[in-house]
Amino acid sequence: MRYLGINCLNHDAAMAIVEDDKIIWAAHSERYSQIKNDKFLNLDIVSEAHMNGPWDYVVYYERPMLKKARQLVAGQYKTAFDYKKLPSVYLKQFNIKIDEYVSHHHSHMAGGYYTAPFDDADILTIDAIGEFETITLWDNEKKIKSWYYPNSLGLFYSAITDRIGLKANEEEYITMGMAAYGEPKYVDYMRLVRQLNNHRGCGNILPEANEFDIAASAQKVYEEELLKIVDEYCKKPNLILSGGCALNCLANSKIKNKNIWIMPNPGDSGSALGCIPAVTKKKLDWQGPFLGTNIEGEYPIDSILKELSINEIVGVANGRAEYGPRALGNRSLLADPRGDEIKDKVNAIKRRQEFRPFAPAILEEDVHEYFTMPVRRSPYMQFIAVCKYPDEFPAIVHKDGTSRVQTVNEKDNPGFYNLLKSWKEKTGCPMLLNTSLNIKGKPMVNNRFHAIKFEEKYNVKVV
Ligand SMILES: [Fe+2]
Repeated sequence: MRYLGINCLNHDAAMAIVEDDKIIWAAHSERYSQIKNDKFLNLDIVSEAHMNGPWDYVVYYERPMLKKARQLVAGQYKTAFDYKKLPSVYLKQFNIKIDEYVSHHHSHMAGGYYTAPFDDADILTIDAIGEFETITLWDNEKKIKSWYYPNSLGLFYSAITDRIGLKANEEEYITMGMAAYGEPKYVDYMRLVRQLNNHRGCGNILPEANEFDIAASAQKVYEEELLKIVDEYCKKPNLILSGGCALNCLANSKIKNKNIWIMPNPGDSGSALGCIPAVTKKKLDWQGPFLGTNIEGEYPIDSILKELSINEIVGVANGRAEYGPRALGNRSLLADPRGDEIKDKVNAIKRRQEFRPFAPAILEEDVHEYFTMPVRRSPYMQFIAVCKYPDEFPAIVHKDGTSRVQTVNEKDNPGFYNLLKSWKEKTGCPMLLNTSLNIKGKPMVNNRFHAIKFEEKYNVKVV
């Protein structure tokens, strides 16, 4: 039996195909349309789904009628009464008929639980809002507690993101990055804001305050609450985090003494996959996040090394695209992380805010020599670690001395691992700066055509 899972019409539309325990294919709509956080599907992604099909059963990642009920409660009458926003109506144009709907948090839970490397775990799902639930706790696949709209930790974080001039539901990761640059001066005030209904933002609170201090204060409140819930309810040694808030690597790293699993695509786009095992109740054979469009060919280790030696910077577009928000070696812009100048050089392309450093990808066997890790390994950049030699690698270290580390081993990505090994043999340096390969403002490069566009625009070779 082959299953198709879908998320669309909200944000970050995605599709996934599973047969038995095998994840055949999973991809983000935005990578095909090149529209960031695209909420719609398009012919390219649907065609690729067909190439990986045919499917027998279609699962949708949330319950639209329940969501409409919540929209009515929230006063979103226009959206609630817009029948075109029903996935069953929308999907007719692609000739796709939904067989089963799974609730939003159930899809999040299942995406974590059925991909995890262990069977017995507490599962904590936190996001902004699905239907009515905003936080849920699970004992394996059994739900034991729910928090309901408008009491939402995710909506609070999004409201703060909006308050500091960023795009809510998209740029929360920047809020988190800004937190390191501020002082948590307004924690008491933020605790009060947290108690309010933040669905439509929190207004221009603290108009005189520095945005970085606001971010730091909100981050602190988020961490307090996360740790309190974990402390109170999660007693097992294994913990699974899911929902968009599981991307808060700063907070994740504060959880102590747990084996933590976070599927590398824990937000709504990952629920295109998650909703399938929610129905089948079958553990998935998780082999890694390289599940999208394939760019054929051997991992181009020699070409990468050559470009790095000449230009210190190179793009790589090879193998299957990452399913999740992080470039993990297959759609990456790589650079030599040593020295003071490389950050400016990469930033000439990325044009990111000064306070956002780049991440290091490092050989798993060397990580503890260079970083003080909160966990043994971090293959999907879900945790932060203190860098032991920040002066040597300023481009990959945050102001607070930490880095969002990606550990790489041979099983996870043999090509990328062997590249890092060869790079170390050649230079003595066990890591590379790794950031996503994308044109400014656009999603990650998906295919060769996008890679050529990137090359033309930035005059940086993509191999
Ligand atoms: Fe969600």
